[in-house]
Amino acid sequence: MAGDVRDIQRAAPRPPRSRGRQVSPDVVVEAWDRCASEWAEWVRSGRDADRECLLDPVMLRLLGNLRGSRVLDLGCGEGYFSRVMARREADVVGVDISPAMIGLAQEEEARRSLGITYCLGDMTDLSVFGKETFDAATAYLSLSDCIDHQLALREAARVLKKKGRLVYCLPHPCFFTPGASWEPRDRLRISGSDHDKLHWKVDRYFQRERVDWMVYPNLPGSTPHFHRPLQDYLEATWEAGLQVTAVVEPIPSPQLLAESQNWQKYLRIGFYLVVQAEKTR
Ligand SMILES: C[S@@+](CC[C@H](N)C(=O)[O-])C[C@H]1O[C@@H](n2cnc3c(N)ncnc32)[C@H](O)[C@@H]1O
Repeated sequence: MAGDVRDIQRAAPRPPRSRGRQVSPDVVVEAWDRCASEWAEWVRSGRDADRECLLDPVMLRLLGNLRGSRVLDLGCGEGYFSRVMARREADVVGVDISPAMIGLAQEEEARRSLGITYCLGDMTDLSVFGKETFDAATAYLSLSDCIDHQLALREAARVLKKKGRLVYCLPHPCFFTPGASWEPRDRLRISGSDHDKLHWKVDRYFQRERVDWMVYPNLPGSTPHFHRPLQDYLEATWEAGLQVTAVVEPIPSPQLLAESQNWQKYLRIGFYLVVQAEKTR
């Protein structure tokens, strides 16, 4: 079945390839270093409801029982999801390209140890790890910030044991495109209310380009993201030797919807995409 899909895609006209690879990794490092402390403050504040209510439950469900598993967290940042997994008794190694992020993660580990090892490194070159070292790997909102997702996925596949799982989440690539935003119902009345949002506007979907986003309002600057159509992620996943076994677009639970109007907009467009894949060869 997957073979048929690939044949169709090979025959289809191809939009221009990613311009992300022309970006120097220094740009990525510099941006994340600059934002690291404010990022950590926000992520650790318990106020990031998207993470805690939407993403974590799906990521954990797709990872399955982590007890005793050796897990590699790619683009671990200041260690948020590495800690979530270590509390579920996984033996976690976190890798990030930003020295400031890794420094913050290590400081937190020194304060309250969960047995996590953090390494400064690039997820596109995991040569410090032997092949078939890990039972599972995660990339929590980091693959779309990586200049070369194909190399990162190939490296993830190499270090996974046979039947090992990779679970990654992304800002939904079909909606968070370079030209996307809410279109207000009335241009003179722009508010946070769901009613005032006419619709979500998607543009430049096939444009593989670097987009500098201010992810959280309290960050001192923007950080580079590399937009790619959905096809690029799925294709790179199976080309790395990983079979996609689940795709989830998380939505708020009925309980969350009853608690706050803020969740309504999450039923209008897909905010996140979560992919589970298994190493088959
Ligand atoms: C949006 S943050 C997510 C951090 C963390 N996973 C979390 O959820 O809090 C993206 C992270 O990816 C890291 N990153 C980007 N490119 C990378 C690469 N090639 N190798 C390792 N880390 C990378 C950045 O330094 C940043 O910490």
